[in-house]
Amino acid sequence: MYKDKILYRLRSFRKGFLSGEELARRTGISRTMVWKHISSLRGQGFTIEAVPSQGYRLAAEPDLLRKQDIASGLKIKVIGRDIQLFTTLVSTNTAAMELASKGAVEGTVIISEMQTGGKGRLGRKWISPKGNLYLSIILRPAIPTHKAPLITMSGAVAVASAIRSVCGVAVGIKWPNDILVSGKKVCGLLTEMSAEQDRIRHIVLGIGIDVNMRPDELPPDIRALTTTLSEAKGSTVNRTVLLRQLLRDMDHWYRQFLVQDADVLAEWKKLNVTFGRRITVSGTGELLEGIAQGIDEDGRLIVKQNNGVLRLIAAGDVTILKR
Ligand code: BTN
Repeated sequence: MYKDKILYRLRSFRKGFLSGEELARRTGISRTMVWKHISSLRGQGFTIEAVPSQGYRLAAEPDLLRKQDIASGLKIKVIGRDIQLFTTLVSTNTAAMELASKGAVEGTVIISEMQTGGKGRLGRKWISPKGNLYLSIILRPAIPTHKAPLITMSGAVAVASAIRSVCGVAVGIKWPNDILVSGKKVCGLLTEMSAEQDRIRHIVLGIGIDVNMRPDELPPDIRALTTTLSEAKGSTVNRTVLLRQLLRDMDHWYRQFLVQDADVLAEWKKLNVTFGRRITVSGTGELLEGIAQGIDEDGRLIVKQNNGVLRLIAAGDVTILKR
């Protein structure tokens, strides 16, 4: 696309002005068309200065995801074979489940700038204003259904790795798959699947990361337990850079999971902040208290209750109690 070519030129020459004539020559279009694309970029929120007889200069970029920026030069094998970007969706998971049932290729990624009906675990809502990352990945692994939780764990390990390398902050995982920074939640994962008997048709791995939103966009009760990456880092986080790293790390950990799922479990265990801690588990009808002992090979949490009885937990909310 010519608009992308113009943006590419402007980005690689930020220190000075590029004349309309030069932009036209380098992109192979007329000066009038250059001017039209510049107007269109401005319409998308790019600040482009224009000085008569000097030309154009890119002064600032909007915090906006662009498909070209996300996809270009990504050296990945499975994840991101098809990337679909939306301004708004009800839920990327719902959209991805629909596309998957119509045969979308494995590795398809659905991204939205915001969601009007974002879904959380245990039937809750996921508040999804602009400024964060909301994505869902379609997967078609040939695995038995009881192994599906390990896909979510691969996702958690990938998110943790991407956040650590892009933002330079320490990251932990609280069972089942909450990503914590400074002890507060920054990301949640929600896996949905379509299966028959013991065969998975497709799995959708949904990831929501609180990146740059204002904390007051969340209700006070949720705000107390959560943070954003920009708050943790102390500056705005480039969402495109984070998303690209996440797609790379997801591609790595998903393929590793298919070859040797024990590697995912081992990495997840290294990052977990739950084991050995006194916890309560809620959200499943009963409130259970005990010490988190570990997880079994299918990712279920092993809790030793106060009366010494061991319990295996498949779903729930964990609260880590103060020592
Ligand atoms: C949780 O409750 O911790 C899981 C939250 C998962 C939210 C993400 S945002 C992208 C995807 N689409 C949804 O509707 N939910 C997931």
